[in-house]
Amino acid sequence: MNVSEARDSIEKLADEIRKHNYNYYVLSKPVISDYEFDRLLQRLIELEKAFPALLSPDSPTQHVGGEITKDFRQIVHKYPMLSLGNTYSEEDIRDFEERIHKTIGYEVEYVCELKFDGVAIGLTYRNGRLVQAVTRGDGIRGDDVTTNVKTIKSIPLRLQGRDYPEEFEIRGEIILPHASFEKMNEQRMEDGEDPFANPRNAASGTLKMQDSAEVARRNLDGFFYYLPGNDLPFRTHYESLQAARLWGFKISEYAVRCKTIGDIFDYLSTWDQARHELPYDIDGIVIKVNDIRQQELLGFTAKSPRWAIACKFKAEQVSTRLLSVDFQVGRTGAVTPVANLEPVQLAGTVVKRATLHNAGVISTLDVRIGDMVFVEKGGEIIPKIISVDLGERPAGATQLNFITHCPECGTLLIRTEGEAAWYCPNEQGCPPQIKGKLEHFISRKAMNIDSLGEGKIEILFDNGLVHNYADLYNLTYDQLIGLEKTYEPSGEKKEKKISFREKTVSNILNGIDASKGVSFDRVLYALGIRFVGETVAKKLAFHFITVEKLMEADYDRLVEVEEIGEKIAQSIRSWFSDPQHTALIGKLRAAGILFRIDESLVTRLSDRLAGLTFVVSGTFQNFSRDELKKTIETHGGKNIGSISSKTSYLLAGENMGPEKRKKAEKLGVPIISESDFVKILLEN
Ligand code: IVH
Repeated sequence: MNVSEARDSIEKLADEIRKHNYNYYVLSKPVISDYEFDRLLQRLIELEKAFPALLSPDSPTQHVGGEITKDFRQIVHKYPMLSLGNTYSEEDIRDFEERIHKTIGYEVEYVCELKFDGVAIGLTYRNGRLVQAVTRGDGIRGDDVTTNVKTIKSIPLRLQGRDYPEEFEIRGEIILPHASFEKMNEQRMEDGEDPFANPRNAASGTLKMQDSAEVARRNLDGFFYYLPGNDLPFRTHYESLQAARLWGFKISEYAVRCKTIGDIFDYLSTWDQARHELPYDIDGIVIKVNDIRQQELLGFTAKSPRWAIACKFKAEQVSTRLLSVDFQVGRTGAVTPVANLEPVQLAGTVVKRATLHNAGVISTLDVRIGDMVFVEKGGEIIPKIISVDLGERPAGATQLNFITHCPECGTLLIRTEGEAAWYCPNEQGCPPQIKGKLEHFISRKAMNIDSLGEGKIEILFDNGLVHNYADLYNLTYDQLIGLEKTYEPSGEKKEKKISFREKTVSNILNGIDASKGVSFDRVLYALGIRFVGETVAKKLAFHFITVEKLMEADYDRLVEVEEIGEKIAQSIRSWFSDPQHTALIGKLRAAGILFRIDESLVTRLSDRLAGLTFVVSGTFQNFSRDELKKTIETHGGKNIGSISSKTSYLLAGENMGPEKRKKAEKLGVPIISESDFVKILLEN
């Protein structure tokens, strides 16, 4: 066979195998036997071996894997990967519908879908070929897991048909079906490894494996449900799903269009029952506005789209006995009561501990040692105690008294008016607070220094090498080499020994050095200011751009920022007014940490308002002024403070000062209302 004959055969075979893959893995309707399929695949593998120059990266043989990924590259998402607002009741769904109705004003059609319980993924296709697969990460950047995703047989490496855009992204969920999950856990137990707690964890662990051939063996699968971007040729979300299905993606057959809220409730109650019959996990349903123009009009909050919402199924509950309560001090000094329970099986794991939140919750629940309590897994990680089964209270159940002094350093606890938690105020001297702040600083969503994870911070602290996070940047090779410690990792029985040998030390120092490239929003989060979580840090960083501007901002300027309320503003003011904290910032800056936002990270949704300048004044009915300004910017327009002859529009709300109106009239600047603005946005 010469090269050109081989090329023909390879192309034909590859096309045939692709079709069978689609029939088998996407449509679940195979038309040939497994044996025949394997023969075709084997033939292709042999041909590619004989003519290695003809091996294409999107050949169906690539589903087998083999490539090793040492470090997963971080990729900035073209469109931020947001999550969905959660609802738990019919009333919440009614509120969602009402809010949409208020903005759109006329009939809205919805699409109801299953909410797959897996790992979110974004796939990019260029000229019909899969070029990149990225996990959600922190929503701004995720991990490049392309090599591993390519092994998933239901994911097309090359698309069918012709009418797909030259380049686009499609988002979905990587899941592990029950059958594969069980098989995999059996194998793990045989090999003496701990089983995974649930299919979601297993899928997420599998996606981050270094050996893609092992990933291929685990039989991950994926459902796709969203195409981000605003230059796609669809009028509705439903249409986009149908098109994506024709291109070869696995799209759930259970996505349906709903005209009324009654239809939505029917869908919800049907799946609340029927989910137990599915071969994979779902944890709720998702409701989306179908019309894409309407979606654009509704836009996004910092965290999630306003045009979609998730409705989670009610969590499972079990009852068990409360044996004792420990008090834990966190990085902010907050003291959390943690219940020790008689071990009980709940939603796939054995639960032994649950949070009791704070003193207020203890007294509201009137919970006592020895009580039977109801435990629930709230969405994620730590289970919580929901209520007490008073009928089962044993005689002599003892009252639970909250502690008065820090269990770690003995300092008298304090409580701020109006706050639920008791705090240990000894921020600079209480060991779990110091260690907790360091752990938070290096964590993945903050400075991401994973070479310092797993107990290593503890070693540094115990040896007196670090008292705060700025100290990390002064560590030297000589200080670290040879340090060691045995410790018991949380949740594991076996002791582990860590010793700082040459490789560990150089990894640590490299990790610390690499953290100098972490963006300002994450640095701000890493500082560990009370109430400044990931989202708030992002809001602040993108609003103020530099740390100086943030430090200068007084209370009034802070509460102007969307989502920043009184409590957060006060916490920020008080953090920055502490000279010890400003000294820390000085040291971090001297070490080369970024305290300015890279403006290329500010996302752009479209150029519909490019070239237009707006003055936004007064108060509005459907949007806040900040939201309008943000919409203008994200669609390429400009906001300016005062009117000139160059102003394109004065966007006027209620209670706008009369001078502005006069000036606009004098200069011939059109005065528009909120709904005129929406029209301009939609019609441009
Ligand atoms: S739509 C911009 N549809 O649930 C909205 N998400 O907390 C994009 N999920 O981030 C998401 N099933 O990881 C959408 N049918 C579905 C989904 C779904 C599962 C995940 C997704 C999302 C999270 C919401």
